Amino acid sequence: MHPDLRSLPKAELHLHIEGTLEPELAFALAERGGIRLPFADIADLRRHYDFTDLQSFLDLYYSCMAVLRTEQDFTDLALAYFERADADGIRHVEMFCDPQVHESNGVTLDTVLDGLLAAFRIASERWGITGGLIVCIVRDEPVASAAALIEELAPRAGEVLGIGLDSAEVGYPPSLFTEVFARARELGLHRVAHAGEEAPPAYIWEALRLLDVERVDHGIRAVDEPELVRHLAERRVPLTVCPLSNVRLRAVADLSSHPIRALVDAGVVVTVNSDDPAYFGGYIADNYAALAAAGFTLDELADLAANSIDASFADEARKTELR
Ligand code: ADE
Ligand code: ZN
Repeated sequence: MHPDLRSLPKAELHLHIEGTLEPELAFALAERGGIRLPFADIADLRRHYDFTDLQSFLDLYYSCMAVLRTEQDFTDLALAYFERADADGIRHVEMFCDPQVHESNGVTLDTVLDGLLAAFRIASERWGITGGLIVCIVRDEPVASAAALIEELAPRAGEVLGIGLDSAEVGYPPSLFTEVFARARELGLHRVAHAGEEAPPAYIWEALRLLDVERVDHGIRAVDEPELVRHLAERRVPLTVCPLSNVRLRAVADLSSHPIRALVDAGVVVTVNSDDPAYFGGYIADNYAALAAAGFTLDELADLAANSIDASFADEARKTELR
């Protein structure tokens, strides 16, 4: 990464903390917790990183999550990420987590929240990094499970930033979660959703109109509908785009044909993010570097970094400090 870009203050707004689980840490946590991973060793696990689509990645991602059991496991995972984030010039992080998956492993919501919130406190003291948690609804779990998660979260709503919607997209449209998101809004939570990663523009319209989201995660398929692109640009709805993720999950053929160029040129508020960096071959600096190699100028990349601050849920005082 160009040194000027590394020193630019950036926010990461699309980061699944479970997607930062490097194979070395996965095996260390498995040993600490007495858990058996279904892979012979680190090299064997890495050999499974050849994904064909979103689902092929999710299968591996969910199976590795079995090593995350204790508050300390979540704190250690997040601190390893924050250390890399600091090195890449990230000053603010809005971090996704998937409590429904952990609950199916017998891990409580409180364990997940307490472990990750402890890491945020340490990151603030150690690196001056701000931000917070976005609790994601796993959309291919039953809607009743999502509704139960929101009620479980309700007493702690003040400790997190918001809710999101992730996991297998096609066949699980945002409309399923209209009431869950209305309840989240009632609780004062910010709202974001993965939409248009693999699914068509209709999913993005639903996220905007039915879930009242403030940002769209991925959103790249908006490029298939000019009216939607105009709408996103006019309303200044930010997209959290994850270039290397899209290539690795074959949502796009390569970076040179990635919709990010068309979206930026159409005036959409685009941000650059890493999604699941341990699995996709790069953290945020690698995503910026890949865009530079695909023809983005330093000025354009600086604009994308500035967008990430503007599109964050940080308060105005913090945004001013970061700009
Ligand atoms: N969970 C983790 N990464 C994801 C992605 N790229 N899309 C949907 N759900 C996810
Ligand atoms: Zn994602």
